[in-house]
Amino acid sequence: MGPVRIFDQCMLTNLEHLGLAVKDLAAATALYTKLLGQEPYKHEHVASEAVDTVFFQVGGSKIELLAGTSPDSAITRYLEKKPEGIHHVAFEVDDIRAEMARLRAEGFVLLNEEPKRGADNKLVCFVHPKSAGGVLVELCQSIVA
Ligand code: CO
Repeated sequence: MGPVRIFDQCMLTNLEHLGLAVKDLAAATALYTKLLGQEPYKHEHVASEAVDTVFFQVGGSKIELLAGTSPDSAITRYLEKKPEGIHHVAFEVDDIRAEMARLRAEGFVLLNEEPKRGADNKLVCFVHPKSAGGVLVELCQSIVA
């Protein structure tokens, strides 16, 4: 990877959420409701990813609980190899296509060529952990209704 090019515009604007992989969504939801002292604001099934999600708002960021709903789900497969816990780190971006182009030019490996529809009204793209220091990074851009 070459020298880092600094852009005058800040394109990653917020640590939008941490995605946590869980086996038992009901148990994890109860645990995080207690831990965070509040109820989640959303439950959402994402059929394209075969996951059920639960979201908690924590200040300007969120906690996303993720449980696989089929043996083929990326979360189910992840939990066959790794313990429950932090699965990905998601940054909010203003222009996901511009940010994907910037990261590609910097040598990062993107897991999807085009932004795709994620949970919580977002367009998302993932950066391969092998090119991001072992961390699965998500870019997400809010879809304005
Ligand atoms: Co996420």
